[in-house]
Order: sequence, then C-alpha cells, then structure tokens
Amino acid sequence: MHEIIRQLEEKREKARLGGGQKRIDSQHAKGKLTARERIELLLDDGSFEEWDMFKEHRCTDFGMASEKVPGDGVVIGYGTINGRLVFVFSQDFTVLGGSLSETHAEKICKVMDQAMKVGAPVIGLNDSGGARIQEGVASLGGYADVFQRNVMASGVVPQISLIMGPCAGGAVYSPAMTDFIFMVKDSSYMFVTGPEVVKTVTHEEVTAEELGGAMTHSSKSGVADLAFENDVEALMVIRRMMSFIPGSNREKPPMLPCVDPADRLDMSLDTLVPDNTNQPYDMKELIIKMVDDSDFFELQPDYAKNIIIGFGRMEGSPVGIVANQPLVLAGCLDIKSSIKAARFVRFCDAFNIPVVTLVDVPGFMPGTGQEYGGIIKHGAKLLYAYAECTVPKVTIITRKAYGGAYDVMSSKHLRGDVNLAWPTAEIAVMGPKGAVEIIFREEKNNPEKIAEREAEYKTKFANPFVAGARGFIDDVIMPHETRKRVCRSLAMLKDKELENPWRKHGNIPL
Ligand code: HXC
Repeated sequence: MHEIIRQLEEKREKARLGGGQKRIDSQHAKGKLTARERIELLLDDGSFEEWDMFKEHRCTDFGMASEKVPGDGVVIGYGTINGRLVFVFSQDFTVLGGSLSETHAEKICKVMDQAMKVGAPVIGLNDSGGARIQEGVASLGGYADVFQRNVMASGVVPQISLIMGPCAGGAVYSPAMTDFIFMVKDSSYMFVTGPEVVKTVTHEEVTAEELGGAMTHSSKSGVADLAFENDVEALMVIRRMMSFIPGSNREKPPMLPCVDPADRLDMSLDTLVPDNTNQPYDMKELIIKMVDDSDFFELQPDYAKNIIIGFGRMEGSPVGIVANQPLVLAGCLDIKSSIKAARFVRFCDAFNIPVVTLVDVPGFMPGTGQEYGGIIKHGAKLLYAYAECTVPKVTIITRKAYGGAYDVMSSKHLRGDVNLAWPTAEIAVMGPKGAVEIIFREEKNNPEKIAEREAEYKTKFANPFVAGARGFIDDVIMPHETRKRVCRSLAMLKDKELENPWRKHGNIPL
C-alpha cells in the first residue's frame, strides 16, 4: 500500500512540474506565474479540486509519442471564490507553449459541461501558443468544440477570460465569446494575425504589444474590459468581480450584508449639476455617492468614456449601472458607447442583475464618421438591449434627455419600471437652441426674437414636468435623496416578473 501511495505522489509531483523547472523559471523570468500558481491565487485556500491531472495526448506524429506531459498543458477543476463554486481551466505555457491539443480541448470541455450542469461560472486563464501544430486538424476540431460550448453557455453561466500570455489566431474567438475579457499588461496579447503577417499584408510595422496588448484592447478596440499590471492584481480583481455576479441564470446575484443606510442623503448632490446647462460635470460622482459604501466596480473605464458601465450594490444587492458621462463628448451616444452599454445591459439581463440608468444625454453623435460607421445599426443595439431587458430597470434623468437618446436610455416606453427625474432634467426633442432654429427659421435674422423664443421653449420644455404630466416620469426627486429613492424602487421591484414572448431568438441588429 505504501508503495502505491508513493507512486501516486511521484506521479502527482511530475504532473505538477508541467514542462519542467527550466520552463517554470523562464515563465517566472517573464513576470508570469505558472498555471497552478494562478489557480492557487484565484481560488479560496485549499478549495481546488483538480481533474485530469494524468490525462495525456494521443498524438504520435512528429516525434510526439515521446513528448508526453501528464495534464497536457492545461490544469482544470473546480473550487470556490469567497465560498462560491467556480470552474477553472488554466493553460500551462511550460508544456508545449500551452498549445491546444485534442486532449487539452477535451479537458476544457469537461469543466464547461460540468459547470453547465451545476450552474456555476467558468473562468479561463489563457496562456497559449494556439493550436498544437503537430496535431493539425484534431486541434482545430478541439477549438471548435470549445467554441460551441462557449455559445451554449452564453447567458446560462457567466464566462470570464483572463488573458495572461499569448492568445492568437482563431484561438481569440473563445475568449471573444465569453462575457468579460481581462488582460495583463506587457505579458499578454490577442490578435487574429500577428505583427509578421500584418507587415506582409498591409506593410504596417507594429509590435505585438501595440497590435494586441492589454492597453490596445482596453482603450482602442474595446475587446478587453480591464487591463492589469500583473498576474496577481488580475486574479485579485477577478475575485472581487465575482462577488457581483450569480453562479448562473437560475440564481439571483449574491447579496452582501450592508451597513450603508438605504436612506442616506447626500446634500452635495443638489449642486452637482451646474447652472449652465452646457457645462460638464462628473457623473461618476453621482454613482459613487449613490451605491453602497462608494464601492463601484467599473468596466471598460478607458474605452468609450462617454458612457460608464459597471457594478455596484444597493442595500447589499448587486446592480448594473449604465450612465452617460457629460465630461466626455457631452455624454453623446456614439457607435462605441452604444455597443459598450448594450452588451453590458444584456449581461445584466441574462443574469438577473437589475439595471440602474443615469441619464444626461444630448442625443446621438452627429457626423459622417458616425453615419458611415453605421450608428443607425449600432445605436439600435442599445435600444434593443433595453427594450428586451426584463430585469428591474430604474432610471434617473439628471439633466438632458433629448431626442431618440431619451427613448433609448431605459425610458418608460421601453418598460422602464421606475423613471425619476431631478428638477434640473430637460426632456425634449432637442436643446432649445436647435429647436428654435428649426421651428422659427423665419426669425433667424432677429436675435432678440430668437432669444425670446429660446426662453419660451426653455420654460415650456427644458424641465421634467411635461414628461411628468404624461406619466413618463414617475416623480421629480431631490438629487440628495437619489440613493433612498433608488433603493426603495429596487426593493419594490425585488420580485418583478416579466416575460418576453416565446421565440427561437430575436434578431438584434448586429
Ligand atoms: C506546438 C508550440 C506551439 C504550438 C509554442 N509551442 N506554440 N508547440 N504548437 N502552437 C512550443 C514551442 O515549440 C516551444 O517548445 C514552447 O512551446 C515555447 O515556445 P517559444 O516559442 O519558445 O516561446 P516564446 O518565445 O515565448 O513564443 C511564444 C509564441 C511562439 C509567440 C506563442 O511559440 C509561437 O509563435 N508559437 C506558434 C504560434 C502559432 O502559430 N500557433 C498557431 C496559431 S493558429 P520548446 O520545446 O522549445 O519549449 C491557431 C489556430 C486556432 O491557433 C484555430 C481555431 C479555430
């Protein structure tokens, strides 16, 4: 018996070493942790249950029969984060560059299948040279098996990708189909074709970092949700993010005990909106002052900054927050911000997270760039996302809600449950200046008359009371009581039930 135990321990020891000490050292020298070190940091101490530690590839071509490493370049299993179940796979770059073989793919599929059965998130730690070249189409098939599962799991269990090394070629499409992508600065990159191919085809010279590094994807392409300084920071932040999301679409998001009073007033909010309606202010101030303990988990903070998205809590329950940011492009909706917010609203809706929308939007962004880029189709994504969304929706209009953007931003007409406005709200087809220029065109050479008309328009429409008179706004509230009113609304909506008509699926304007 002792001998068998000793042999098992030896086998385990060998598997834990992956591609060997030399390659582990080289991984560390690049500032990267190993696949197992990452899992240890991500999960609660001692909670990891590993599967398929001894699984090996079956390839015999190109001398691969003698190149077998137990585990075949990916560590899989399950464990807990703050006591809640999650499934994990972590690619081991020390084993054939973390390349994906048929066997490696089978292991990833195994945790994904199990996560679907029990209703728990899948977290993928990606660090891979892509398809195992020696295996050819078998590895391509393996990728497609993972892709298919990504799609089936979408909206059923949360899927989170953390890119901690190379992720190139078709391999990018698995993370691309997950709910969130996080990247580590300087050590991770994602691209469909690398710098060499780019140089040959388009004659552009770029480094891997410029083409597909963490900063590129978190600020230019919008592919990544956040960029981190190093592996440790990335893993710690994922742990924090998991506290906002449920295990599956069958669960409510996790509650935390809340000490921040639900009826806490914040008098400073009464002066947040400047007297001059064209002067910007920071919408983040309202978010921070509204949520529990000022704890706001922002996503994509460096991309499409004219809209803010992220998670917070109200009375201990997670909410998704979508807010126009008047500090950037006056808070206009453009292509990027519409897509950014639409995807977030759909995530919240899929996972039973109420959506709180803070509105100060002068409209959709004008210009040929936007029109040629398809603002019609992309703006419609946000409209579609809000209209389809059945979770509790609470909307606060702080200032401008003009034109189509008024309708889009979780208005009453798109089944907004509670729509409140600050006294500074201006709900109209457009701003006074533009409106007067159109409807009183014949008076354009008479500045006095125009000023008079503008003042008249302002009195009539640049306020929340016209919308209030129609019931499009449920109440006009004092800014300082925003937290209290939102908390009460969400408490009232706790057991909201609303179903969309049966269909195979809708056809969101992609
Ligand atoms: C087999 C691979 C491999 C791969 C790396 N290795 N990628 N083995 N298949 N795809 C092995 C290397 O031979 C090496 O083995 C070890 O991993 C470490 O690789 P290095 O090159 O020494 O590391 P580094 O210098 O850090 O470079 C990393 C790299 C490079 C940039 C990822 O290895 C690379 O370019 N690899 C090939 C990438 C690629 O073309 N993949 C296919 C993409 S197409 P030893 O024994 O020396 O340690 C694709 C299609 C997916 O993925 C389609 C889905 C639909």
